[in-house]
Amino acid sequence: MSLTAPRTISIPVAGSTLLEVDHLTVTFPTSSGPVEVVKDASFRVESGDTLGIVGESGSGKSMTSLAIMGLLPRGGTATGSIRLNGHELLGRSDREMRRVRGDKVAMVFQDPLSSLNPYYTVGLQIEEAYRAHNGGSRRDARRVTIEALERVRIADASRRVDHYPHQFSGGMRQRIMIAMALCLEPDLLIADEPTTALDVTVQAQILELLADLQRETGTGMIFITHDLAVVSQVAQDVLVMKDGEQVEAGTAEQVFSNPRAAYTRALLAALPRIDDPFDELKGTSR
Ligand SMILES: Nc1ncnc2c1ncn2[C@@H]1O[C@H](COP(=O)(O)OP(=O)(O)OP(=O)(O)O)[C@@H](O)[C@H]1O
Ligand SMILES: [Mg+2]
Repeated sequence: MSLTAPRTISIPVAGSTLLEVDHLTVTFPTSSGPVEVVKDASFRVESGDTLGIVGESGSGKSMTSLAIMGLLPRGGTATGSIRLNGHELLGRSDREMRRVRGDKVAMVFQDPLSSLNPYYTVGLQIEEAYRAHNGGSRRDARRVTIEALERVRIADASRRVDHYPHQFSGGMRQRIMIAMALCLEPDLLIADEPTTALDVTVQAQILELLADLQRETGTGMIFITHDLAVVSQVAQDVLVMKDGEQVEAGTAEQVFSNPRAAYTRALLAALPRIDDPFDELKGTSR
């Protein structure tokens, strides 16, 4: 599948494309004039699939996702088109975007401590998010919250639900953020470098968890990372960004086996090779 055109081999089911972004440009005013931090990006996310967005620091990955969420920092403006289930998101009021965020799109940020309030138990925070979205009784919200914590494999969830954020490890806090996002049953989950702050083993657990949950729920996902190896594990489609430009877009297979942009080839060349066990041997015999 191409990221700029609908899947050519799929049966054309109306609404199977979850997110369509066309010619997205994000601009900030500066003292020396407007600066485009995302330039003319176009991509698709199909229902139940994962798009990996990869690129070095400052390439515009977060600005792309914040534009989708309607959460650009003050002064930032987005032009182009962002359609979710066929409905245009750009130009909506703050109030409407809050509804979209509660209802359709959820985001997991890199640093869970900055998104969790240290003064409230994690249970209360997930319950509040759930009730703001679904209404219902406190008792219901608590049951859903404990279930969500169990789904992200927090052991002893019915007790841990009353603990505060600092009583959890970094990997557990990240899983708590995922649990909170899942309670909203979003159509689209945006994970912005959710594993960057974690050690490799915990990172692998989180990636596995996200893949499992996606299989269960069919949620579409955007997974942002600077690590191409991580993208190869989670994404069907890949978008490579550099200096706000989309330098490459395609299926993971296309991008990994036949990268068109020199920048992508350089990123790939920098990866440790684990695909060919004889590679090292070949290297020594050269
Ligand atoms: N509030 C802001 N006002 C103006 N420019 C900003 C603002 N925040 C970020 N930028 C700029 O926008 C560009 C893209 O930033 P963005 O946060 O999207 O990068 P990123 O790819 O997510 O990087 P990282 O991997 O470090 O998270 C950067 O050049 C950054 O300096
Ligand atoms: Mg970022």
